[in-house]
Amino acid sequence: MAREFIVPGQIVNGSGALALAKTRFPGFGKKALIVTDPVMVKLGNCAKVEQALKDEGVDYAVFPDITGEPTDTMIAQGLAKYREQKCDFLIGLGGGSPMDSMKAIGSLVEHGGDIDDYMGRVIDVKMPPLIAIPTTAGTGSEATQFTIINNTHKQVKMLLKGACLMSTLAIIDPQFTMTAPAGVTAHTGLDALCHCTEAYTSRKAQPLSDTFALSAVKRIFTYLPRAYENGRDEEARVQMSIAALEAGIAFNNSSVTLIHGMSRPIGALFHIAHGLSNAMLLKECFRFALPGAYDRFAVLGRTIGAAGAEDDDRTASEKFLEAVCSIVDRLNTPTLEQYGVNRGEFFAQIPKMASDALDSGSPQNTMRDITKEDIEQMYRRLWD
Ligand SMILES: NC(=O)c1ccc[n+]([C@@H]2O[C@H](COP(=O)([O-])OP(=O)(O)OC[C@H]3O[C@@H](n4cnc5c(N)ncnc54)[C@H](O)[C@@H]3O)[C@@H](O)[C@H]2O)c1
Ligand SMILES: [Fe+2]
Repeated sequence: MAREFIVPGQIVNGSGALALAKTRFPGFGKKALIVTDPVMVKLGNCAKVEQALKDEGVDYAVFPDITGEPTDTMIAQGLAKYREQKCDFLIGLGGGSPMDSMKAIGSLVEHGGDIDDYMGRVIDVKMPPLIAIPTTAGTGSEATQFTIINNTHKQVKMLLKGACLMSTLAIIDPQFTMTAPAGVTAHTGLDALCHCTEAYTSRKAQPLSDTFALSAVKRIFTYLPRAYENGRDEEARVQMSIAALEAGIAFNNSSVTLIHGMSRPIGALFHIAHGLSNAMLLKECFRFALPGAYDRFAVLGRTIGAAGAEDDDRTASEKFLEAVCSIVDRLNTPTLEQYGVNRGEFFAQIPKMASDALDSGSPQNTMRDITKEDIEQMYRRLWD
């Protein structure tokens, strides 16, 4: 069966990537809107992008109001700023939140309306040029056709899709991830681990997505603990930026599965950061998925060196699961209880969360048949 394989228009990566890529800015338009968050402004990361635009004689305005994971309201405000400032292209600077916001704003530029109108529909519109500059080694949003926006009316995280959401240019420059604190490094890095392992063990996997997924998983097990334990370790930061990009390319052309399906409802209702809620689910979800894909999990186990050629598939996949449990612990991932979620409130929401997870379609990509009861049971097990 023929399959598409979609990547960003251009990728510039490695130390000095911004300096190399900035000469292309004048080709994108006359005035950029930099979509970012207040932390990027405070840390001086935004100033570096502003300077690069000034160097190239390109005008810009800054929209620094992505104050958390994006909502429909933030998107409407960003669109108003884009129009008011008469911008003609977009730069998303930050983690997944500003990059996803950039894509959502871009999708409304020509057609107007509200981002919620796209719930359940594929986005297929004319877009302004999109430049993605990630500052977390996590979501891979710089290389995906997705944007995840909170619908504040329905209290759901909408997973919106469209090939037009792919960035025109992705600038992967480790100078931007160097400032990420340990907690952000851990959760966003584990998000990338979910992307590549889910992509590899998805019913939608294809040979090219496998290549990127295996490369990413290897890098993450080697370099994520290093980046977490010493944020100034530049080699670890460079390698994690590449891993997050590879993992993004992998799931963009395969899919995510159970973890992401179950994580979005937790994020929407309990306001836990995306990477952290994924990290909390990793052990339980892979424990469920393993028997449906021993052969695939075994390859992951051998790829990271947790298992050897002498191990049969079941043993090798169990060794992979052990390695996942150990990295989750080493990065001090809290449980829901340790994070302060109220058990009673969580249990009351389990039926809605299980329905929302299944409605997203992601859990069904797991290589094991799954029911609503299975999902409810996994949510309950997070408290054992
Ligand atoms: N589009 C996709 O394909 C895709 C994939 C996965 C997740 N997502 C979405 O991305 C969002 C999460 O993105 P994220 O995990 O990158 O986090 P984020 O963008 O929400 O950032 C988390 C926190 O880290 C801070 N931060 C980011 N980079 C930093 C740096 N270099 N130095 C210091 N602080 C820094 C931010 O200011 C923020 O406070 C969620 O909404 C999630 O649903 C999108
Ligand atoms: Fe993710």
